[in-house]
Amino acid sequence: MRRAQRIAHLRPYFFAQVGARIRELQAQGVRVLRMDIGAPDGPPPPFVIETLIRRAQEPNVHAYSPYGGIPEYREAWAQYYRQRFGVHLDPQREVLGLIGSKEGIFHLTQALVDPGDVVLIPDPGYLTYTGAARIAGAEIYFLPLKEEHDFFPDLDAIPEEVARRARILWLNYPNNPTGAAATREQLQRALEFARRYDVLVAHDAPYVDVTLEPDVRPLSILELPGSREVAVEFNSLSKRANMAGWRLGAALGNEAAIQALHTYKSQVDSSHFRPMMEAGAVALTDPRMEAWLEQRNAVYRQRRDLILAHLPQLNMTARLPVAGMYVWARLPQGWDSMTYARRLLEEAGVSITPGVVFGPHGEGYVRISLGTATEIVEEALNRMVQWWRSCV
Ligand SMILES: Cc1ncc(COP(=O)(O)O)c(C=O)c1O
Repeated sequence: MRRAQRIAHLRPYFFAQVGARIRELQAQGVRVLRMDIGAPDGPPPPFVIETLIRRAQEPNVHAYSPYGGIPEYREAWAQYYRQRFGVHLDPQREVLGLIGSKEGIFHLTQALVDPGDVVLIPDPGYLTYTGAARIAGAEIYFLPLKEEHDFFPDLDAIPEEVARRARILWLNYPNNPTGAAATREQLQRALEFARRYDVLVAHDAPYVDVTLEPDVRPLSILELPGSREVAVEFNSLSKRANMAGWRLGAALGNEAAIQALHTYKSQVDSSHFRPMMEAGAVALTDPRMEAWLEQRNAVYRQRRDLILAHLPQLNMTARLPVAGMYVWARLPQGWDSMTYARRLLEEAGVSITPGVVFGPHGEGYVRISLGTATEIVEEALNRMVQWWRSCV
């Protein structure tokens, strides 16, 4: 079978490859401990599940839903943005329901980018920005996220000629994989860049409610004055409410971008199951969510602290991740991240993600996920320490 040129250069998704190797090891009797996956391990809030069950039993909810989501779902996002960020959005024109934010990230690129256009992508960064740009035939310009710049790109370092051809600037705060949150000043700089070069800032913010430090309140880019003239934000219930499998996301902000995405998307999908969106609305607006989030985030914080406490014994260091679900740890001198992760899996049965998977500037780091049961994190860390002792 001849593949389309469009996908000829795509490689299999890294996590699918690791998953296959882990299944082989498991078949040989190895108990593999996984800290590689960026998905929550806990269930969604019970009142969200109850809404789905109750509504799915109704006879009149099983038809196609309106493109871009039922009005109640879009309104719930608008209400959440009003209460959480003080941002007032028009649910019909400035909010669009998505089948997970990944779908919107991919399709926005297809809707806005022509072959030869430049897409600016943080490195390390979420893989879909790159995959979507490649399929669109775009030229990718990586923006290094360096520890010494608090993991925010140096926008002044982008050559004028590249900036002029750029269509989208991807940003993601709280950041996967580094755990950094952006300041108002940093986001302001991105908006100024966007205005100067007529670029859309696409801010990917699925971790905005996964806070690990009590005094850090991650921002929506839409909180900044004038932002929606040049910015769109992606958000999701996957990490906020442990609903990754439900595939409920949203695009919010810049109306022209939302409309372009809507037009493209309506060729591809036919929205979501109504009771799922109704349950999603509960996960956005129910007052019980606040206490639920606090408890859930406390569990992640405990796991993060456990991992950080073990790093010195592993000869690794990390900046304190203030939000998100990951510890981004710098490897001991002389190790490349693929070798480290491969040997750790094969020799100790512990799976973590090599940093280079997220882009060339991820080399020298590994990502350790907080979405793993605390007892397993403890056991995995003990195995890692023992394994490391055997290496040195
Ligand atoms: C930075 C980032 N953006 C987007 C997504 C996709 O999330 P969703 O489940 O909403 O598609 C992820 C998932 O891991 C992510 O880490």
